[in-house]
Amino acid sequence: MKRILIVGAGGQIGSELTRTLRDIYGNDNVVCSDLRPLKGEIYERGPIERIDSTQIMQIAEAVKKYNIDTIYNLAAILSATAELNPMLGWNVGIGSLVNCLEVARLFGCAVFTPSSIGSFGPTTPRDNTPQDTIQRPTTIYGVTKVTGELLSDYYYTRFGVDTRSVRFPGLISNLTLPGGGTTDYAVEIYYSAVKGEKFVCPLKKGTFMDMMYMPDALKAMVDIMEADPTKLIHRNSFNVTAMSFDPEIIFNAIKKYVPTFEMVYEPEPIKQAIADSWPNSLDDSCARKEWGWNPVYDLDKMTVDMLDCLKKKLL
Ligand code: NAD
Ligand code: SER
Repeated sequence: MKRILIVGAGGQIGSELTRTLRDIYGNDNVVCSDLRPLKGEIYERGPIERIDSTQIMQIAEAVKKYNIDTIYNLAAILSATAELNPMLGWNVGIGSLVNCLEVARLFGCAVFTPSSIGSFGPTTPRDNTPQDTIQRPTTIYGVTKVTGELLSDYYYTRFGVDTRSVRFPGLISNLTLPGGGTTDYAVEIYYSAVKGEKFVCPLKKGTFMDMMYMPDALKAMVDIMEADPTKLIHRNSFNVTAMSFDPEIIFNAIKKYVPTFEMVYEPEPIKQAIADSWPNSLDDSCARKEWGWNPVYDLDKMTVDMLDCLKKKLL
């Protein structure tokens, strides 16, 4: 049975990954940690630690204390927030990664760290973006993600650390709100629809990006760490996607179920510039071939579930 440490467990992904991993591997085998206090049933089902992942000794002590063999490193500052404070974006994104890799090297752990569509830039082919292609991002978030991919591959080839990663698109979920990314609008739009509010869209019509519903993202994070290593040609990091849409398409998908829903466009310059530098759609065929990636949710299926879950939560 794996013994897992989740670093940065308090965010959009970590709040749901904690539950998923505990359901699979057992409550006591999954330690959740964050800089911020972790409260609530999901976290309190098993061990909780307060860890600032920029402090290597805090990670090392937890790994030793709980005999950890796998680290899920989720601590980062998302794209739009990092653009407002680039040094914080670098220090958290890279500080946390380097510390997890070093601790993994010393204690023999595997490491999962998500990369992102943000690892691509304006010179990357925009449509059906290949697995191996140009990665010259123009955001500090993207710079940390490309650096993270290279460092993770380096630790694998140089030290044999079992590093694995996926390039997540925008993730849509209904438990915890995202932490300041460019794709956050695709979550917020559902909250507005359920609350009966007009949605003010921060991106222009025609701004396409890849997206994925959280249950598929959780499946990806489990499946890649369970994958047969002899089948992995790539490691850091795999393109994965489930759908690609622009604001108009997601608005119409919601309007089908909420006919009174309204949306206006008020593009925010930082988010628009970031979104314009990212691909429209990824080619995820390597993930499909090498470890069986196969998402379940398309836009319509996700919309039905999001509206249903948010109605129960908000109304
Ligand atoms: P989030 O912002 O919701 O959560 C990040 C967590 O990290 C927060 O709980 C925060 O408290 C914690 N954190 C920040 N600084 C820390 C520190 N010094 N020590 C310990 N914890 C710290 O982000 P998320 O959406 O859950 O993303 C997790 C990972 O997935 C990140 O690497 C992100 O880049 C990546 N990713 C997310 C998305 C998405 O759409 N959510 C898409 C692609 C990639
Ligand atoms: N959702 C993330 C962001 O927009 C993508 O990595 O920052």
